[in-house]
Amino acid sequence: MKAVLCKAFGPPETLVLEDVEDPIAGPGQVLVDVHASAVNFPDVLMIEGKYQNRPPFPFSPGGEIAGTVAALGEGVTGFEVGDRVFGGTGVGGFAEKVAVPAAAMRPMPDRMSFAKASGISTTYGTSYYALKQRADLKPGETLLVLGAAGGVGLAAVELGKAMGAKVIAAASSEEKLAAAKAAGADEFIDYSDGELKDKVKALTDGRGADVIYDPVGGDLFDQCMRSIAWYGRVLVIGFAAGDIPRVPINLILLKSCQVVGVFFGAWSAKAPEEAAANFREILAFYEEGKIDPLIGAEYPLASYAQALRDLSERRAIGKVVVQVRSEDER
Ligand SMILES: NC(=O)c1ccc[n+]([C@@H]2O[C@H](COP(=O)([O-])OP(=O)(O)OC[C@H]3O[C@@H](n4cnc5c(N)ncnc54)[C@H](OP(=O)(O)O)[C@@H]3O)[C@@H](O)[C@H]2O)c1
Repeated sequence: MKAVLCKAFGPPETLVLEDVEDPIAGPGQVLVDVHASAVNFPDVLMIEGKYQNRPPFPFSPGGEIAGTVAALGEGVTGFEVGDRVFGGTGVGGFAEKVAVPAAAMRPMPDRMSFAKASGISTTYGTSYYALKQRADLKPGETLLVLGAAGGVGLAAVELGKAMGAKVIAAASSEEKLAAAKAAGADEFIDYSDGELKDKVKALTDGRGADVIYDPVGGDLFDQCMRSIAWYGRVLVIGFAAGDIPRVPINLILLKSCQVVGVFFGAWSAKAPEEAAANFREILAFYEEGKIDPLIGAEYPLASYAQALRDLSERRAIGKVVVQVRSEDER
């Protein structure tokens, strides 16, 4: 099979596309013919050795996929060869086949494309866990989403609306805010001038936002701490801007707010049944038309470097997807 391989840490251009042996489904695993693999910021960090997880070389990046079951490992029940599935792989998605624990795969809704299904696990999984379990977002509350046109950000906009919140989308360009508007956001902030706090205050009658979803970090985080409402919750999702901010704990006291960590991968491993229940609710939102993953760009497998660059160079809108199999192979 063809696979994109990382043999040493470095930028996307240091990866190689090679023919390698097909993987074999071990006990409890399914072998999946990968149709589409969605790109996430952690993939960009992982190939450069900047992510908390450093897989042994060589590894294929690609943390989530959609495809069809090609073989069942020993002891696997609940799946049949040919089933359309999606789920998180951690690594290995940028390859024609991947062997993964059966528990990581879920059946795809009938009318969903492989491209859309490939982008559900990480983005909606993370954002729903953040808003539901970590923030306890309530109908009528105000949710501010930074990076609102990115992968996890756009999912947070849609899920926030589905949960009954008023959503303020914040992003660095009018084009990105237009994507957030199409996803249902109510109010908009362009922070390309570096200003966030006063704009949030102006949209909330000076109160601030009840919940802030921050996948960006960097300099904007301090303004998040100054834009949070009394009893608010600031969700620490990630640091796409590069710098890991420090928390001024006097503001936690003054606002009686919470700064809440979100680590979806670790939680879904510790609480698989709760995570499965979340995905049932996410797919119900999809069936009800309340969410619909936006695919901003699709690339063939050979253009893997461009796909990763879209994220590292801040161009991605919605999900960037690598089409591992061409249309006529599907
Ligand atoms: N906690 C978890 O469990 C979890 C799970 C998945 C992902 N994450 C984290 O969430 C963050 C976003 O991931 P994603 O896959 O949604 O990425 P993405 O689609 O690339 O979105 C990241 C957003 O960050 C903003 N940004 C600001 N400065 C940037 C820069 N220098 N380079 C790139 N983007 C920049 C961009 O929005 P603007 O241009 O509008 O600012 C962009 O839309 C990452 O830090 C990732 O590690 C965390």
